[in-house]
Amino acid sequence: MIGVGGATPLPVLDNHALSALVDTSDDWIRSRTGITQRHLASSDVSLVDLASEAAQAALVHAGVATESVDLILLATSTPDDLFGTASLVQARLGAHNAVAFDLTAACSGFIFGLVTAAQYLRAGTYRTVVLIGADILSRWVDWSDRRTCILFGDGAGAVVLQADATDQLLGFELRSDGRLNHYLTLGYEPDPQTLVESVTIGQGKFKPIFMNGREVYRFAVTQVPEVIEKALFRAGLTTDDIDWLLLHQANQRILDAVADRLGIPREKVISNVSDYGNTSAASIPLALSEVVANGQIKPGDVVAAAGFGAGLTWGAAIFRWH
Ligand code: ACO
Repeated sequence: MIGVGGATPLPVLDNHALSALVDTSDDWIRSRTGITQRHLASSDVSLVDLASEAAQAALVHAGVATESVDLILLATSTPDDLFGTASLVQARLGAHNAVAFDLTAACSGFIFGLVTAAQYLRAGTYRTVVLIGADILSRWVDWSDRRTCILFGDGAGAVVLQADATDQLLGFELRSDGRLNHYLTLGYEPDPQTLVESVTIGQGKFKPIFMNGREVYRFAVTQVPEVIEKALFRAGLTTDDIDWLLLHQANQRILDAVADRLGIPREKVISNVSDYGNTSAASIPLALSEVVANGQIKPGDVVAAAGFGAGLTWGAAIFRWH
């Protein structure tokens, strides 16, 4: 990983303003989640806008020319085009030598993308990869459902990865369990329409995000520490070797509970959930870009990153910041 960047933060909706939309309060949201505000994309902002801006920032930070990008991976669950949005980002960047495709694993998307990118780099197939995590969940939230609308925000972050003599991904573990899918969904609902006798198709629409908050919370605080420990084992490291714990920014209580279970002190936990809420695939690269920009993370530091979310999917990656 040789560069990181984020899209410019979008307009803010704070807890007080949100309390005018649904029956909630700043106090309830902050005490249950640690979130004070979220950034939301206006109707004229596309996912391509956000993803391209983040990718461009990461390329500038890495000092890598657009022409030398071999692969663009776009981790998102909220594409502009269901056929694929990554190629539109490729066109916007002018990265004509690259191949680009979307990868969907909800809030685990960045970690799944990081491991996918590493396989291409290790195999020697590609030398330079841009990995973007970008989501506009505000398009899919039911803004009258106080159980979910308080949590989510929009954004994009990106990293540049390059094949290197010293492999920076030290260990990883990816998991999914479709039997738990119903805890967190953004599902398609077909509306049967008979075209001719014996041919009925299902042109419908996607329903807003549904979440069983308690079950997702329970899943996160038990499964995420386990997956981090497995990734550490693969890396030949222990929790004492971790300089930074970089979790998907879903909820401060989840970040604290995972850190406590692993015995990692709070000062090693990276958090910007207060300012952004849950930005899904964008949350890890966005948080990383902030701590790199303010100099908290130093070259050589060991980062334990983990994502978790819909699918259900979860995974951890232990890497050394270049
Ligand atoms: N304001 C006020 N009251 C509320 C609100 C709200 N925004 N939301 C729920 N309540 C009420 C409920 O109606 C309920 O009232 P009742 O007891 O009278 O029925 C009470 O508060 C408790 O509700 P719970 O849902 O049990 O609240 P909980 O303490 O579990 O907190 C929360 C909810 C914050 C959502 C928590 O469950 C959580 O963080 N879960 C994890 C969610 C998460 O991280 N999801 C992201 C996954 S990533 C991805 O892939 C998208």
